[in-house]
Amino acid sequence: MKNAFLFSSLGIVLVLILGAFTVYSEQEKTIPGIPEDVNQIIQNHCYGCHNNDGKSEDAVEDLNFDEWEDYNPMKKAAKLNDICETISEGEMPPEKFLKKYPDKKLNDEQIKIICQWTKNADKRQVR
Ligand code: HEC
Repeated sequence: MKNAFLFSSLGIVLVLILGAFTVYSEQEKTIPGIPEDVNQIIQNHCYGCHNNDGKSEDAVEDLNFDEWEDYNPMKKAAKLNDICETISEGEMPPEKFLKKYPDKKLNDEQIKIICQWTKNADKRQVR
């Protein structure tokens, strides 16, 4: 009887651990069409709100990295521009969110990496 209890507890713990892994790997998903270094920053600091399951409709409508590859060149160019602009001005990630998760704030180096990408990718799109 005691053993049965022990095993079922073990089962529950296992399920919890595996569950945590699936949530984790979801966030580690690579966004197609975005270089590796930029991808890592976006996954960590932006993707959580800007994806198909994002809680804010406004955020998903403005920018959805799950649809990034399907954006047409005009839309992509406009979004690239918006991305560099909002992070340079400190509008993204939103201030309210950063109060709760200060480690999600972008540092200067990360802003530079993203803006360099948006500028180069933008030229390729528009040409
Ligand atoms: C906590 C959720 C959250 C995170 C994290 C987040 N955003 Fe946003 N984002 C929003 C919301 C909500 C909006 C729409 C409303 C607004 O503009 O504030 C938005 C809008 C935008 C827009 C459109 C703004 C405009 O003026 O058209 C861009 C571009 C953007 N986000 C880029 C980013 C980038 C890049 C990151 C990562 C560095 C990021 N966001 C992280 C919630 C988030």
